[in-house]
Amino acid sequence: MAYTLEYFQAAAGFLRTKADFVPEIGVVLGSCLGPFARAIENPVEVDYADIPHFLLSTVDSHAGKLIFGTVAGKRVVCMSGRFHSYEGYSFEELVIPVRVLKLLGIRALVLTNAAGGVNTGYRPGDVMVLRDHIKLNGDSPLRGPNAEDFGPRFFDVSRMYTPELRKLALDCARGSPLRVHEGTYMFFPGPQFETPAEIRAARFLGADAVGMSTVTEALTAAHCQLPLLALSVITNMAAGVLDRPLSGQEVDETAERVAGPFSEYMKTILAAI
Ligand code: HPA
Repeated sequence: MAYTLEYFQAAAGFLRTKADFVPEIGVVLGSCLGPFARAIENPVEVDYADIPHFLLSTVDSHAGKLIFGTVAGKRVVCMSGRFHSYEGYSFEELVIPVRVLKLLGIRALVLTNAAGGVNTGYRPGDVMVLRDHIKLNGDSPLRGPNAEDFGPRFFDVSRMYTPELRKLALDCARGSPLRVHEGTYMFFPGPQFETPAEIRAARFLGADAVGMSTVTEALTAAHCQLPLLALSVITNMAAGVLDRPLSGQEVDETAERVAGPFSEYMKTILAAI
C-alpha cells in the first residue's frame, strides 16, 4: 500500500466537514482510559467506521470513535480507542491515525496507555511519563516508501518525547494524588502478556514499564516533527514481579480506579500545553 499524502487527506478532508474548528492538541486514549472522553465539552463524535481510509478498533475496551471538543479551554481531537499490531494491523498501517491528526492541524500529541510495571519501585495506579522507549520487536511503522510530505527517510528520535512537554507533565503532577514517575517504556507485541524471563530481560535493558502500544504512534509523530507527550498508567506489576498470574481484569480494574484522578491530571496538562 502506498501511503501518499492524498491517502491521508481523504480522511482529514472528511473530518473537516464534521468539526467546525482546527484542533490544537490530539489525544489518544489507551485501554480503559476512555472515561477521560466524558471531560470533553461540546463533543462532536465521529465513528471510525465512517472515516475514509481509517482503521477499526477491535478491542472491547476501545470505543472506536474520534471526538472533537474542548478540554480545559483547549480545542482537542481525541481518539477514543487506538489500533495495535496484535489486532492484525501491519506496522505500516499504524501510521494512519497520527498522520490524519497531523493534517487536521494539531500542534501537539498526547498518547496514553495502560502498562505493566517493571520497575519494582512502581505500584499499580502510578503514572509514568515516557522519557524514551525500547522497541526490539516488530517492524518500524515507517518501513516502506517514505512519505516525503511528512518527513525525511532517516530521522532523529533522540528527543522524540519532547523534553519541554515531559517537564510540563512532571510539573503538573504537583497537586495530583497520583504518583508520577519518568521512565522508559518497552514495547512488546502481545496480545499475550510477557513471560517473567522477558520482564527480567526488559529490566536488565533499562525498561521501567512494558506495553503493547504507543511506540508506533510515537515514531509516526517523530517522523512528522509533532511535539509529543506519552503517559503510561501502571495498571499491574509485570509478569513475574509478583507471584501470581496476570489478567486483563486486573488491568481494567486499576484503569477504572485511576480514571478520575487521571482525567484531572490530563486536564491540568492540557491547560498548560
Ligand atoms: N504487559 C503488556 N501490556 C500491558 C500490561 C503488561 O503487563 N499491562 C497493561 N498493558
